[in-house]
Amino acid sequence: MKHIAILLAALLAAAAPSEARKVKKFVHETVEIPSVEPQIIAVETANTQLTLSVKENRRVELIRYGSKLRSPQEFLGYEGVTQEAYPAAGGTLLTENALHVKYPDGNHGTELRFTSFSTKSAGGVNTTVIGLKDYVTGLEVSLVYDAYVKEDVISARAVITNPGKKDVELENYASSLMRLEGDDFLLTHFHGGWACEMQTSRELLDFGTKVIESRRGTQATQTENPSFVVSLGREFSENSGEAVAGALAWSGNFRIAFERDETGRLNIFSGISPFASAYPLKGGASFETPEMLWTFSAEGAGGASRNLHRWARNYGIYGGGAVNPTLLNSWEGAYFSFDTSVLTGMIDDAAAMGLEMFVLDDGWFGTKYPRNSDRTSLGDWEPNTDKIPEGIDHLASYAHGKGLKFGIWIEPEMVSGVSVLAETHPEWVVQSPGRELYEARWQWVLDLSNPQVQDFVFGIFDRTMQLAPGIDYIKWDCNRPVYSFGSTYLGPEQDRFYVEYVQGLYSVMRRIREKYPSVLVQCCSSGGARVDYGAMKYCNEFWTSDNTDAISRVRIQYATSMIYPACAMASHVSAVPNHQSGNVTPLKMRFDMAAAGRLGMELQPKNLSSSERALADRCIRSYKGFRDVVFGGDLYRLSDPYNSDYYAFMYVSEDKTKAVVFAFCLRYQNRAGGGHPFALRGLDPSRKYLVTEQNVDSSCWWGDGKAFAGDFLMGGGFNPVLLQTNSSAIFLLEAR
Ligand code: DGJ
Repeated sequence: MKHIAILLAALLAAAAPSEARKVKKFVHETVEIPSVEPQIIAVETANTQLTLSVKENRRVELIRYGSKLRSPQEFLGYEGVTQEAYPAAGGTLLTENALHVKYPDGNHGTELRFTSFSTKSAGGVNTTVIGLKDYVTGLEVSLVYDAYVKEDVISARAVITNPGKKDVELENYASSLMRLEGDDFLLTHFHGGWACEMQTSRELLDFGTKVIESRRGTQATQTENPSFVVSLGREFSENSGEAVAGALAWSGNFRIAFERDETGRLNIFSGISPFASAYPLKGGASFETPEMLWTFSAEGAGGASRNLHRWARNYGIYGGGAVNPTLLNSWEGAYFSFDTSVLTGMIDDAAAMGLEMFVLDDGWFGTKYPRNSDRTSLGDWEPNTDKIPEGIDHLASYAHGKGLKFGIWIEPEMVSGVSVLAETHPEWVVQSPGRELYEARWQWVLDLSNPQVQDFVFGIFDRTMQLAPGIDYIKWDCNRPVYSFGSTYLGPEQDRFYVEYVQGLYSVMRRIREKYPSVLVQCCSSGGARVDYGAMKYCNEFWTSDNTDAISRVRIQYATSMIYPACAMASHVSAVPNHQSGNVTPLKMRFDMAAAGRLGMELQPKNLSSSERALADRCIRSYKGFRDVVFGGDLYRLSDPYNSDYYAFMYVSEDKTKAVVFAFCLRYQNRAGGGHPFALRGLDPSRKYLVTEQNVDSSCWWGDGKAFAGDFLMGGGFNPVLLQTNSSAIFLLEAR
């Protein structure tokens, strides 16, 4: 008993405020922060609203992201759980941060408070800038929100300024934080690897933090794409319900953290990965983060995709929405084994099949070390005159003479171990002192953080363009990630490497676009390892995957379509057995899948039989009749290839006068009976549409060649009969 009394007394003494806590004597004076009139800031698009609140104590908080409310100002007196719009490490923050700064005196604390607010409008974009500053250190941050009004997309970025004289170190510098309210959050994200990019993964987000990220340096999107869809609820919904999609416009290391905090709300932090990138921000300098794109839709994931696609066509993709030419690419048809006559033969066949461009892929360069395999020559970009003695200009003018455009492949960020460039400029290779260089595909990465290397890489593009008058298209490849990261140029500031590599890449791309505004550029990286909205600002299209198998492409293109539009999605018909998967699929299915994006072929046409040639001619001709809808229309996914044996989707022109429906039987189990019904979407219910199946003599649908009301087609009347695994069909719908 005596012991318990002593213990109780000790506990009470510990709980009572100690003398030390009562004394208000600190080593430092507390800086006074003047109060401010509270206000609500609404960043708005046609149908969505991001509501922020400025509190009397100058905290700027996120209140809500969702459908547009009539009077967001009513949130002025709102009391509830909120979240700082750009929380910085320090103060009362105990969770993930958007900003973490280390100051010259070794301190880490930052507390951002409101200083200013401005808006402006131009070209369909309303820009809101919220100024913040840390009253102790003077560090400034501008939160920039661009609201793309018609497209319902909001881009968010931060500009961090160090007004002091001494450098500070940015340990973390997110582009954006988004806070979502809800009982449950279902995350859809896209993982993968070479030849199986953009695989769909769905998971309910639980308490704690789920992270998707890349630390690959280059090839950032090979294993995980910096994009996602969050469905508000327990189920993924394609057509209804609230969904938020996000995509980071950055081609390097990224980190997107989904933090379900103690209140159950979801905080999504997105930006450049801080891994080995504590960025030194010089006195007087600013750092601008990449843009994070957000969209909200009350029409499920489908609505969110359509918003992003519209934004991408109007703003996000270089030349977005324009119809890009069909093409024959030499890679899978010839690989490294070609000479002039092989290539001119391919050009002849491409022209005869009605294709519009010939692209000479890898293998055309290197004189001291000719590029006859992937082991040599990257960096030595002179044409190989043994293979093509007549020169690239001969091939280009041969193609032009046949009415085709001409394109050519380069991989300018790389150097082969066996190359003149590696012999002359070993210091340009990304490397870590004293460590193994680790070749991958027998090549190394050039250090684009170095301005000399940037000039060299620009020069490769520039000189390639001079190889022939009127080169129409450049395929820009990038075939390995960064290992043993490090830069001989950056000296002790190695923390800048990953960030400045990408900034260097973009600076080269900007110079290219200034000099060559109309050349078409394909962004390729071992297939789809650079599919992001950062690169797409400079590129007309991306190579979706090295996997050209139509069966594999079902899943790859399904997931790609969640975030990126068909106008940029290059998709090629190749030979069977497929070179990546070994699968054998009907030529019709290969065409029908490739026609869902920018159609191309990638095989030796001479190996096609005459009936295959006839089908190819027919498919290419019909594609030209509906591709305007593929490039510029709205996408409706009609089923999910992960959960259905029948996969279908359709594109509808903005004025709803034309649509094209793609349907595939992925697995036939004798259950389809009289046909599989698909409820079409996006049509005008009261208009009649003439429905015509493409590329067949005898249609798989009883209604082929007849006109039906939009509501009939959307109400279950459309039921094509696909009675074989890998059978497929394309239907054109034209309003009468
Ligand atoms: C990888 C690309 O993805 C392919 O299409 C092809 O261009 C090869 N590189 C060439 O090396």
